[in-house]
Amino acid sequence: MKIKNICCIGAGYVGGPTMAVIAQKCPEIKVTVVDINESRIAAWNDEDVDNIPIYEPGLSNIVKEARGRNLFFSTEVDSAIDKADMIFISVNTPTKTYGMGKGMAADLKFIELCARQIARVSTSDKIVIEKSTLPVRTAEALKNILDNTGNGVNYQILSNPEFLAEGTAVDDLMNPDRVLIGGDIDSDKGKEAVKALVDIYAHWVPREQILTTNVWSSELSKLTANAFLAQRVSSINAMSELCEKTGADVNEVAKAVGMDSRIGPKFLKASVGFGGSCFQKDILNLVYIAKSFGLEEVANYWEQVIIMNDHQKKRFATKIVKTLFNTVSGKKIGILGWAFKKDTNDTRESAAIYVTDYLLNEQAEIVVYDPKVKAEQVYADLDYLNTRTEAENRARVKVVNTPYEAAYQTHAVAIMTEWDEFKELDWPQIYEDMLKPAFLFDGRRLLERKTKEKIGFEFYAIGS
Ligand SMILES: NC(=O)c1ccc[n+]([C@@H]2O[C@H](COP(=O)([O-])OP(=O)(O)OC[C@H]3O[C@@H](n4cnc5c(N)ncnc54)[C@H](O)[C@@H]3O)[C@@H](O)[C@H]2O)c1
Repeated sequence: MKIKNICCIGAGYVGGPTMAVIAQKCPEIKVTVVDINESRIAAWNDEDVDNIPIYEPGLSNIVKEARGRNLFFSTEVDSAIDKADMIFISVNTPTKTYGMGKGMAADLKFIELCARQIARVSTSDKIVIEKSTLPVRTAEALKNILDNTGNGVNYQILSNPEFLAEGTAVDDLMNPDRVLIGGDIDSDKGKEAVKALVDIYAHWVPREQILTTNVWSSELSKLTANAFLAQRVSSINAMSELCEKTGADVNEVAKAVGMDSRIGPKFLKASVGFGGSCFQKDILNLVYIAKSFGLEEVANYWEQVIIMNDHQKKRFATKIVKTLFNTVSGKKIGILGWAFKKDTNDTRESAAIYVTDYLLNEQAEIVVYDPKVKAEQVYADLDYLNTRTEAENRARVKVVNTPYEAAYQTHAVAIMTEWDEFKELDWPQIYEDMLKPAFLFDGRRLLERKTKEKIGFEFYAIGS
């Protein structure tokens, strides 16, 4: 089966970059990315590729090359679905905020809406691919909807979870550790669909790195991968607290431990806590699934990863308050970094949001600088928490355009995102501009203690 037309529903952090790379690597395939969010699509179509809605190193150049050739962004969802041989569903699957499973289960309403729309408009056979991260056995529900509400056309459902990490999305897509494809490998039609997707990735991914499994293994592997990654962060963060009490240094511990080839060095960086749209949501979903099967011990085991992460964020904020003589009321604190990690403008679940919220509750005045996050986003993130009125958030939080403005006349500066540029700042100047004693809190282990203390800073870093 030769795929000529691909449609991807959802032009977000996954749909946009993934399809841009497929379009670049497969110039003979027409790739259309659709979304109901008109402003997002308009931004993807902005003449100046620096204005595309997602910042990822290398992405704008790929969009520049492929857009208008075989890569298209559109709000015409129905027609893109109907024309496609292969449809990726890459919509958001947030944690439910209502009803059964509130605060834990994945909200699948956007997925179901996609399935119903595909069923309604399709007039030819389709391969439907779960790109979103989904609870195990979602494909069953999708198939049920497609087969029972469709126009009698045939659907093959594949699971093809995305393992890219924001900030390195393009590189991860170009050189993936593996591509995972789950399908109905017991039937000929299923095998044919799996092969069609394998052939697309085989344009640039070595065959031995393209893994095919049954659908349920594929769905569950994605949740498992995120749970394991987050668990490593919570594990090293748990040790960071013990390091602070014992005189050990968490970076030294992480290095010593990571050199054990059974453990490995990656994802052992202590920090103020993981953020991002995925880890927390996917673990909560895993906990919910385990609970729904009555597996209390399994659920409790994974829930602890989240509990530890919340503790780490709170612990960092508390440390700031305690260090500033037990009160930050009326004190100005500079927050450097708002994105949940460097090289992305994504702020979902960023530790900066929660630390700031905590400090605002303690009546601090906050000044934020992030090289890629806009002021509206900072306010939207704080408003979303509903802790205080929108007017109060705007009155007490200022968003500025340079790190120097963020530090000017502050009592303390906190590093919340590991942006490279923060390493190279004129720290003597920042020290000069701050109130004394000048406190510097490094939530990312980004800065060198010795040089900062030499300048005169009162320096605190997680895990030392
Ligand atoms: N962000 C990541 O790093 C990452 C990595 C791997 C997997 N994932 C998973 O991929 C999925 C998408 O994540 P994301 O970060 O790209 O989300 P996102 O919120 O950035 O993008 C989702 C897009 O889908 C659109 N959408 C929702 N319903 C729609 C509909 N019915 N028709 C058309 N468009 C619709 C939304 O408007 C939004 O633009 C999630 O399941 C997530 O867990 C994300």
